[in-house]
Amino acid sequence: MVQANALFTRPRLDLTKEAAQAFVNSEGLLGQLSGKRVLCLAAGGGQQSAAFAILGAEVTVVDLSPGQLAKDQQAAAHYGTTVRTVQGDMRDLSGLPQSSYDVVWHPYSLNFVPQCAQVFGQVASVIKLGGIYHFMCANPHALGMTESDWTGEGFLMRQPYQAEVKVEQPYQGFVFADPAHGSAVPPSLEYRHTLSSLVNGLVEHGFQIRRLTEVVNEAGHVPYEPGSWDHFTSIVPPWWKFWCRYAPEASVDETSSRAYNQKESRNEMPNT
Ligand SMILES: C[S@@+](CC[C@H](N)C(=O)[O-])C[C@H]1O[C@@H](n2cnc3c(N)ncnc32)[C@H](O)[C@@H]1O
Repeated sequence: MVQANALFTRPRLDLTKEAAQAFVNSEGLLGQLSGKRVLCLAAGGGQQSAAFAILGAEVTVVDLSPGQLAKDQQAAAHYGTTVRTVQGDMRDLSGLPQSSYDVVWHPYSLNFVPQCAQVFGQVASVIKLGGIYHFMCANPHALGMTESDWTGEGFLMRQPYQAEVKVEQPYQGFVFADPAHGSAVPPSLEYRHTLSSLVNGLVEHGFQIRRLTEVVNEAGHVPYEPGSWDHFTSIVPPWWKFWCRYAPEASVDETSSRAYNQKESRNEMPNT
């Protein structure tokens, strides 16, 4: 993808402090970032790391791809900042300092691994008590669908709703500005994380959900051209953003949560 010059492999070299703030902290939920320890998880490419470094944070980036991490160093050199880059898998963060990060910022990449809870467990091990974990993921109801699923009356859902199932995701304009270019690259393979696997995985690893944002198209191009991307995303938000706080002492008792799930899977009415 780096060689194909996908949009998310292009470093942000145009940031000011204000633009950096708008990029990663527009809602102000992260507070003052100067001096904070920030882990940009599976976030190579020189976008988020550059913004946090400009805002004075102490930044570490973990990514599987050396090509992506080189973009983080390119952006750091451009701004005269320092970022630590670590090649690694988001499913194993044991090489990082434990209980250390004030913020873990995880842009779209959770859907590249089969089990979201495995990643949440790793984030729990490196984040400080009270730290903020922000991640973006696919809306599981929309993963694998595009505007081409338009039938003339609606967008047809054809795929089974199951966690950890591999889904072929065709590339859109948000990956390649020029779709003709993108068609030369095989579609990405992603995994569906159902709503319950996301929420239960977070709760079982000690995270409180503080806010959920659904990235829906409200651009106002109404009436949308039927079957267009704008039309599709006005009906089905393709992405969700979770804001969580690591507060294990406040999370529900794991045993009772498991008992509840077992009852549910036997189709018994759980106590409410
Ligand atoms: C869509 S990009 C997101 C990052 C980018 N900075 C952005 O702004 O969108 C997905 C990133 O996840 C990384 N990635 C995929 N699987 C990974 C894994 N198992 N562990 C760590 N990084 C992974 C890829 O190398 C890529 O840099």
